[in-house]
Amino acid sequence: MSDNNISRIGVLTGGGDCPGLNAVIRAVVTVAEQEYGDSVVGFYDGWKGVIESRTMELRTEDCRNLLTLGGTILGTSRTNPFVMENGIEKVKAGLEAAHADALVAIGGDDTLGVATKLAEAGMPVVGVPKTIDNDLSGTELTFGFDTAVQIATEAIDRLRTTAESHHRVIVCEVMGRSAGWIATYAGMAAGVADILVPERPFDIDTVCRRIMARHAEGQYSSIIVIGEGAVLAPGPDRDAMENAMKSVSRDAFGHARLGGIGSWLAEEIEKRTGFESRVTILGHVQRGGTPTAFDRVLATRFGVEAVRAIHRGELGKMVALNCGQVVTVPLSEGTRETKYLDMKLYDVAQALLT
Ligand code: F6P
Repeated sequence: MSDNNISRIGVLTGGGDCPGLNAVIRAVVTVAEQEYGDSVVGFYDGWKGVIESRTMELRTEDCRNLLTLGGTILGTSRTNPFVMENGIEKVKAGLEAAHADALVAIGGDDTLGVATKLAEAGMPVVGVPKTIDNDLSGTELTFGFDTAVQIATEAIDRLRTTAESHHRVIVCEVMGRSAGWIATYAGMAAGVADILVPERPFDIDTVCRRIMARHAEGQYSSIIVIGEGAVLAPGPDRDAMENAMKSVSRDAFGHARLGGIGSWLAEEIEKRTGFESRVTILGHVQRGGTPTAFDRVLATRFGVEAVRAIHRGELGKMVALNCGQVVTVPLSEGTRETKYLDMKLYDVAQALLT
């Protein structure tokens, strides 16, 4: 039993699954139990499980071998309580029914956005930031990003075999709804011909000219990495592209389901340059499988700090990485703004394109 009457902690994972979620759960359960003698209750499927009172007891022994396991043993969803009737009251009732004195909400901008509003309404919540996109403000890095970059880099390395053997252009579409972190890191690591990111609208003619110039110089294959959220600069090409990719569905937080810009780009490149082109959309492969060592360690550090923050009475906070140290910042910091790609990094990446 702790100094601030916390003896039972709830934990949930919301939003897209992300390598390292289980490592956070393991750290939360182990430290809560071993350091503070708390019990831990897990809510299934993010906010949905809180609302529906679907829970599981979590003990240290349940968390063995979790470090290496991808996904989340709790399940996840993109449920948004704020678009439901009496959503807040339902969350409150769910926490009370589970006798949770405090909640660790592990998620990205949507889950932490909900957590922020709940904290503002007086609920005892601490956030743990996750997303492969690395686009949350308030933290230098989110876990999951390193794994996604590693997977994308390995995939591009393998695509090079076909690109070179068949003298093709290969477009590799990677995730990153609003930010080009994965595209830039993986593109730099794999030494690709071009990197297209949401932060810098691109011009299709410029992309094609670069390919033509490379091929004129005797390089008979090109790999282009494109972030799923990349857009064309305004103009007739953009209008044509938007027409071709009209049907967009949205999730409970209003986000468009992306994917497909890479296919459009590959077709357009083939049409305009005459070079045989193909597309590979990496999609959820980037979120799958075991986390890298870096992500396991970061996720563990975040989980430990979340529990300690609760016991220090730091509710309404989010754990974060700042100058390599794990700290706490106000929950609202994490969702204050999208952390777009550092354009200095992008310029370095551009300097290496040949
Ligand atoms: O936010 C992480 C992310 O992986 C984005 O990069 C991507 O656009 C989105 O999730 C995909 O979500 P879903 O799993 O719902 O298709």
